[in-house]
Amino acid sequence: MCGIVGYVGGRGATSLLIEGLKRLEYRGYDSAGIAMNNGNGLETRKAKGKISMLEAAVNGNPIHGTVGIAHTRWATHGAPNECNAHPHIDCTKTIAVVHNGIIENYSALRTVLKEKGHVFVSETDTEVLAHLIEENFETTLEDAVMDALNLVEGTFGIAVVSSRDKDKIVAARKGSPLLIGVGDGEYFVASDVAAILAQTREVVYLDDGEVAVITREGYQVSDLGARPVRKGVSRIEWDLDQIEKGGFDHFMMKEIFEQPNSITNAMRGRIVVEDGYSKLGGMNITRDELEKIDNIIITACGTSWHSGLIGELMIEENARIPVETEYASEFRYRNPIVTPNSLCVVISQSGETADTLAAMREAKRRGARTLGLVNVVGSTIAREDDGGVYLHAGPEIGVASTKAFTSQVIGLALLMLKFARRRDMSVARGREIAMAMEALPAQVQQILDRAKEMEMIAEKFKDAQNFLYLGRGYNFPVALEGALKLKEISYIHAEGYPAAEMKHGPIALIDENMPVVFIAPHDSVFDKVASNIQEVKARGGKVICVTSREEPALKGLIDYEFRIPETVDMLYPILTVVPLQLLAYYIATKRGLDVDQPRNLAKSVTVE
Ligand code: G6P
Repeated sequence: MCGIVGYVGGRGATSLLIEGLKRLEYRGYDSAGIAMNNGNGLETRKAKGKISMLEAAVNGNPIHGTVGIAHTRWATHGAPNECNAHPHIDCTKTIAVVHNGIIENYSALRTVLKEKGHVFVSETDTEVLAHLIEENFETTLEDAVMDALNLVEGTFGIAVVSSRDKDKIVAARKGSPLLIGVGDGEYFVASDVAAILAQTREVVYLDDGEVAVITREGYQVSDLGARPVRKGVSRIEWDLDQIEKGGFDHFMMKEIFEQPNSITNAMRGRIVVEDGYSKLGGMNITRDELEKIDNIIITACGTSWHSGLIGELMIEENARIPVETEYASEFRYRNPIVTPNSLCVVISQSGETADTLAAMREAKRRGARTLGLVNVVGSTIAREDDGGVYLHAGPEIGVASTKAFTSQVIGLALLMLKFARRRDMSVARGREIAMAMEALPAQVQQILDRAKEMEMIAEKFKDAQNFLYLGRGYNFPVALEGALKLKEISYIHAEGYPAAEMKHGPIALIDENMPVVFIAPHDSVFDKVASNIQEVKARGGKVICVTSREEPALKGLIDYEFRIPETVDMLYPILTVVPLQLLAYYIATKRGLDVDQPRNLAKSVTVE
């Protein structure tokens, strides 16, 4: 989704801004642009498509300066073209704005501004900001920005420069992340720490309703009424090589292969095997409060929602607490039952997904306690929740989520242990699960060591038009996740179903052209799934089976098998999902597609 980077300091800003934009590429975008104060006035360059196009435009017609802003745009209002690309400028061409988010009252504001004589050139909601700032510009840029923002409804992370008040960037945030990077005699502004990590590790996170004035000498933060706000500086611990490809062709593959490590990191110091118990320091909850929780709501989007479904099964089976897992986008607009004893578990890799954040706020308003399972440290959800469990998966750059998913399942398993061992789970059962968790990294490594087997299966099916993924119990959400991975990056139509539901519709689709992926490890529902495999085979479907043991019952029924190690039922999703991630990856790359930046998708969906 859209990305912002800005620079004010002593160095030439152009290359720093372009480099920052490249580090934001993973978020998904369809055009890019840059604006610079060149000493005499403002200059902008924009391009449709990739940042390399913008780079070509800048190389063909260079711009120089030490104060500038840049943007990658993911189209919401208006087509992805050069005209709609940010930065947007005002009529006097002295103000440039980059914006993430949506101005909801842009249409009304545009009408009023047009009546006052402003001329609009783009179809975007953002352009109203440039004209609104122009309209309110009397003394300083910050005053004009604050006056403008006080008229705006919606969400924004913005960075503004002006040749009328030239040596500064004014940045502001409401509902869309923004941070200041603190260097030595130079400062950055960015919507994502990845954009500036090569330059500095010291950052100041802006909160909603805050405005920052950033110059070479420093930064001041205030609220939208110009009342000063004191801010702390945070240090980023991620390394730059963690956000580079490290020898893999794609971030997605690098991240799939990082899972033995990311799973270890998610568990590190949190499992007490002896007691079959977990320690979660950030939950911020007393023993008393923990024991009072009598229902759990899990809310999330996309892949994170799939891990939530697994969490629901784990918690209900072992801790016997009723759990409802709901799409955040649905939860926020209905009238859900939330009580003071509800715990709302909010799962998000980025910690910035707009619907998930809004669902968390709604749960809070209704009196629930909130707990974030978040990967990105310092993200909005992580800062607004009542307590949290960081996933420690490291930066996930590939748009299709992989290692964050397995870390989320680990986070949920730890949470389950915490609840279950305080209720009716025996120490022996707790210990069995804890030991099985500790074995996972090596088991995932065994699967990855055999990735080539999945590549051969992918070769057979790379031209398929449809795919069905079937699983039961803990592996039904994995069927959903496997299908999602495939459609996200290969653009093949794929659906996930509980295996027995196939009879109620999808069975009509099965013929010799329909590959069906069964997720059938030897768990408590294995025999049931085996019957479903029979049903598919009887209709000529091609069966790809992820299973854990040689099984006479399956003889002659499986066309392609991928074997995984054995574990306890509730942890199978961690082992079964990895071959499905590989299958999707290999099929997509064999089709020549850009798996890290699939069409139309964004890594972090910060609009509703
Ligand atoms: C987007 C991404 C998905 C992700 C979902 C939720 O759709 O493309 O990969 O699962 O957002 O993101 P979150 O950061 O909240 O986990």
